[in-house]
Amino acid sequence: GSAVAELLLAQIRDIPDYPEPGILFKDITPLLNDASALRSSVEEMAAPYRGTAVDHVLGLEARGFIFGAPIALELGAGFVPARKLGKLPAETIEQSYDLEYGTAAVEIHSDAITPGSRVLIVDDVLATGGTGRAAVDLVRRAGGTVVGFSVLMELGALRGREKMPDVEPHVLLSV
Ligand code: PRP
Ligand code: MG
Repeated sequence: GSAVAELLLAQIRDIPDYPEPGILFKDITPLLNDASALRSSVEEMAAPYRGTAVDHVLGLEARGFIFGAPIALELGAGFVPARKLGKLPAETIEQSYDLEYGTAAVEIHSDAITPGSRVLIVDDVLATGGTGRAAVDLVRRAGGTVVGFSVLMELGALRGREKMPDVEPHVLLSV
């Protein structure tokens, strides 16, 4: 990858056996802790969309919020939080997705995305692709157009991009 990617990658910490034995967790908090790494991440995640009309950035709770709001500022867009169930106070639409065991769901306010709205989806990690898939489907059900899916990091071995053949992810770091 690029020199910037190498610097960012150096600030992702491997945590063995978290949250369960046998899982090697990629901890992004050292990257967030570093002012220039944080700025570079946000700028590079936003870069491909600078010439594109973006009305809203949709960020996925919780780690997608960290990057989503500053990317919205970079692009002159509003921010839409996609939250885990029960956290949003007004009327919502929800989308469930498969986990390795069981299902999970995210929701947005029903009036957050209006027909014709152009939406960039942002998260920290693309792993199995369930979260990203749910976000794409939510945006479309609300009548919005997905202009992209920007993530800091892709865990390629989990083949999440196969769940979203209709949206090309923009990935800073492949691990
Ligand atoms: C993690 C990560 C992504 C998602 C990626 O979120 O932040 O959102 O998993 O996995 P997937 O591609 O297999 O769906 P998590 O739900 O663990 O919660 P958090 O962001 O609130 O920490
Ligand atoms: Mg998450």
